[in-house]
Amino acid sequence: MDIKEFMGQVDGFTEAVGERETLKRVFGDLSIPKNFAQDYIKLLHPKKTAVTVTDIFSETASSKTFRLAPLDGYLPPFRAGQYVNWEVTIGNVKTGRALSISSPPHQRGFYELTIRKMEPGFVSQYLIDTVKVGDDFFISGPAGFFYHEPLTDGKDLVFIAGGSGVTPFRSIIREVTERGLDMRIWLIYGTRTTDDVIFGEQLSAVADRHKNIRYELVVSEPDSNYAGTAGFITGDVIKKCVGDVKGKTFYLCGPEMMYRFVQPELIKLGVPGRRIKKESSGPPPDVTKEPGWPTGITADALFSVIVNGEHTIKARAGEPLMIALERAGLVVPNQCRSGECSLCRTKIVRGDTYMPDRVPVREADRWYNYVHSCMAYPISDLEIRY
Ligand code: FES
Repeated sequence: MDIKEFMGQVDGFTEAVGERETLKRVFGDLSIPKNFAQDYIKLLHPKKTAVTVTDIFSETASSKTFRLAPLDGYLPPFRAGQYVNWEVTIGNVKTGRALSISSPPHQRGFYELTIRKMEPGFVSQYLIDTVKVGDDFFISGPAGFFYHEPLTDGKDLVFIAGGSGVTPFRSIIREVTERGLDMRIWLIYGTRTTDDVIFGEQLSAVADRHKNIRYELVVSEPDSNYAGTAGFITGDVIKKCVGDVKGKTFYLCGPEMMYRFVQPELIKLGVPGRRIKKESSGPPPDVTKEPGWPTGITADALFSVIVNGEHTIKARAGEPLMIALERAGLVVPNQCRSGECSLCRTKIVRGDTYMPDRVPVREADRWYNYVHSCMAYPISDLEIRY
């Protein structure tokens, strides 16, 4: 007996099929197309989107904003504060960089990504020095959790930015002001010199026009003409800017060093941990200065890595395993490149790696020796699988 014959013997089945045919004749075919859910998910969350550079804006001597428009007319929606991974091929190396979207989400025709040239940082140098209008790339779908969550974050938000960490805040502030959302925002922006300030004029202008936006620049090494707040973002500076911290949610985006300084200041002011959100800060500029780095291993120490039992490559202790693999033409799936999304999960079959404590690895992964290769550094010869 086949399935049709079997179903024909179920009470009411033939009548239900007849009823469905009648409904189709009267109202048209309302059945959900096959693969409807998958197709819809792909549309909202494509793994990759082909884009072209339509404009480039110089922000400071070392930073630029790139406007990227879709090649096929569509960019997936995102929440202000999220990032995309910009894929690039430099020589023979296929790599990428996770960058916060600095344009607001209601701007549907393009994304703007703002990047500062880092030393060392061969991707940022390539993007700043080489990319021109008309170049085509792939970017990942938007990702990340560094956005305003109305149910838990409330309406009073304090943004603390360091360097190019101001980019997601530009997106959120533009969404709030251009859509007239009911929120109050204090942006405290720390830079080394006034020449390093990204979006400085735009931010001042927005704060002048909107009562619910306050902007405070804090410069650590100002020149003699500077009359604003100088030094670091201490508890006193924060208190002076925002007043009572109660009921406010603090968002931090910048280098890890800034987090290590600002977070204890916030705790001293009485800000509960659940009211502090941090954007992941990516690999440290010098991993040998991280707490727990093994003594006696220099950044230039070279180790052999056997990959998937098929390739043997060399990897430098001072560089994430993922970069060593990419240099050898081996691409591990990746998105955040900061240890957060776990797409680059890699099994260490033999040998040791170092990962900063802040990398959120699942307990089960620790037991079975999986690491996030974007934030794992070789400290011995290795055998790995991914
Ligand atoms: S790429 Fe996201 S954890 Fe490594």
